[in-house]
Amino acid sequence: MHGKAPGATPSAGTCLTAGLVAREGSGVPHYLATHYWWAYIHPRAVKFFERQWLVNLILWGNYRSLSEAALADLGERLPGRTLQVACVYGDLTCRLSERASAGGGTLDVIDVLPIQLQNLRRKLPAAAPVRLLRMDSTRLDVPDARYDRALVFFLLHEQPDPERERTLGELMRVVRPGGTIVIVDYAMPRWWHPLRYLWRPVLARIEPFALDLWQHEIASWLPAGWPLRQIGKQSYFGGLYQKVVVTRADD
Ligand SMILES: C[S@@+](CC[C@H](N)C(=O)[O-])C[C@H]1O[C@@H](n2cnc3c(N)ncnc32)[C@H](O)[C@@H]1O
Repeated sequence: MHGKAPGATPSAGTCLTAGLVAREGSGVPHYLATHYWWAYIHPRAVKFFERQWLVNLILWGNYRSLSEAALADLGERLPGRTLQVACVYGDLTCRLSERASAGGGTLDVIDVLPIQLQNLRRKLPAAAPVRLLRMDSTRLDVPDARYDRALVFFLLHEQPDPERERTLGELMRVVRPGGTIVIVDYAMPRWWHPLRYLWRPVLARIEPFALDLWQHEIASWLPAGWPLRQIGKQSYFGGLYQKVVVTRADD
């Protein structure tokens, strides 16, 4: 079931705290290069999309409320180690890093694209307790149970089935027993929502794997073999968005 991305990322993560080391263009997953070059890879794209109002527009005005929803489950003050899987445009990571700072904790952000990590570095205050690591979410070069909590904001809908499944497998592995994983992404809007009919063809055309999340529960991609204490789901904006919070069982 698990496919292997051609030219997949080297297993070792590259820490960008001291500058950009990884070679641009190498190890970019096939789905990203094929379907999302216009959003994340091209330097002009990064410049263009790094506007909060624009990301908010793409999310139908829900960027702030979805960010709030994600942050609420992680906590006001974040001691220990927090992981964010994949960069996002806008101020979400800065706000997450403020919470890590307030709790005396640290934040690691991983992304497979150096240009995205560079862009995030520019947004963060120099003293932020944040490490930016070049890694592929499907193969994190991180020991088991390393993190207390993790956030994944609108990554899963971009990934084909095997990569999505592997990303969730890696999250379950690297978050400690008792730790929490917060996932925010698309879901199927309710029958009365106009976007259920208007947005479907748009997503089908420009985000070819997104409709998977309309058809299946995120829980269905969670790997077997990791006991859960709890899994909760909340819907937003007439069901077009969802938050899934997974808590690993204690040992
Ligand atoms: C989180 S998603 C979409 C976020 C949302 N649309 C936004 O920017 O506000 C986009 C990010 O995921 C990253 N990404 C995609 N596949 C990845 C993978 N396999 N491993 C790590 N990062 C990945 C991309 O490089 C990009 O920075």
